[in-house]
Amino acid sequence: RVVAVIMVGGPTKGTRFRPLSLNVPKPLFPLAGQPMVHHHISACRRIPNLAQIYLIGFYEEREFALYVSSISNELRIPVRYLREDKPRGSAGGLYSFRDYIMEDSPAHIVLLNCDVCSSFPLPDMLEAHKKYGGMGTLLVNKVSAESANQFGELVADPETNELLHYTEKPETFVSDLINCGVYIFTPNILNAIEDVLKQKKDRANLRRVSSFEALQSAMKAIPADYVRLDQDILSPLAGKKELYTYETLDFWEQIKTPGMSLRCSGLYLSQFRHTSPHLLASGDGKKGATIIGDVYIHPSAKVHLTAKIGPNVSISANARIGAGARLINCIILDDVEIMENAVVIHSIVGWKSTVGKWSRVQGEGDHNAKLGITILGEAVDVEDEVVVTNSIVLPNKTLNASVQDEIIL
Ligand code: GDD
Repeated sequence: RVVAVIMVGGPTKGTRFRPLSLNVPKPLFPLAGQPMVHHHISACRRIPNLAQIYLIGFYEEREFALYVSSISNELRIPVRYLREDKPRGSAGGLYSFRDYIMEDSPAHIVLLNCDVCSSFPLPDMLEAHKKYGGMGTLLVNKVSAESANQFGELVADPETNELLHYTEKPETFVSDLINCGVYIFTPNILNAIEDVLKQKKDRANLRRVSSFEALQSAMKAIPADYVRLDQDILSPLAGKKELYTYETLDFWEQIKTPGMSLRCSGLYLSQFRHTSPHLLASGDGKKGATIIGDVYIHPSAKVHLTAKIGPNVSISANARIGAGARLINCIILDDVEIMENAVVIHSIVGWKSTVGKWSRVQGEGDHNAKLGITILGEAVDVEDEVVVTNSIVLPNKTLNASVQDEIIL
């Protein structure tokens, strides 16, 4: 049997995702109309003999309660949220819930970072992992040499795929092959974490002997029960025939910023063409509006038949899109109203916001730039004939004059 664990982090982790994470935990922010973590869960569903899915994080339980109960019913697979009492690092968090994870005596544990977007080729990865016969297999991917230092960089044996060397976010370039934050382990990983925990505790006890060192270690402020999967587990196990790599040639991105969420929404929409075409709006006149490329429209949204929508547009529940409106590369969240002849391009429009008649909300479309797209927080009113370009607008603001390249607090 297989158990899947998704690390969802906590409210202190999603700060670069503001203002969108002010309303909803980042793992539940909709991409292609589905909560971010839903794409991970759907991928886990394709693993044979999957017993349970756990989400581990330090958000309040009530923030996930509704989602986990509805998704468990919908997919008929137990999905549970486990709340950490304090941040323990990715490996420490996993270890603290070992009794839950081992409940079904799984032969394999699938571990996923929540803030990545991928086709998650888990069944193929599991087959490869069984063939390698190691303690763990990492999903890896080639990125540009300039961007590699944002990730764990690694070297693998081209013949055997063994992980030979691993460094987390190194200052000097090691390799353009990076860790995707998607792993398959045997339960032995829990013993490996336990060993590291013991070593750390022993070292902490030793340090107490010298008061100067105690002060130094207190200043470093990494508690002895904080274990990071990358630095504390993967690095030391590299080159010991315990860890192997599986390279994905399919799409993979990390989602730290709202700009990247817009890009990833588009990637998931194009994946729907193959996996869930029924979720895509078809331009067959059912919804009336002209649809271009990949578009998701929630069944409760109302889109005027003279509106033109797409490509890469996702429209959430109860949104209303007026006559002659034009939407390109954007996420429209719940209860938004886009009025007649308004244009929204390269933007995210927050819950309950309104965009007035003949207004434009637009970005230049650079997903990586700080102000490359426009983001309206919750309940922002853009009045008629106002142009908002490359800006971030915090919740509850009214814009009655045009703005460009600004953060409106
Ligand atoms: N439950 C829980 N508890 N989740 C955590 C914790 C924790 O203490 N710390 C981080 N997470 C979650 C985050 O929400 C995220 O989904 C994932 O674990 C990894 O987050 P970070 O530890 O902040 O690492 P990172 O995203 O900067 O880098 C990691 O992922 C990259 C791929 O996206 C590293 O593993 C890199 O090597 C890797 O390239």
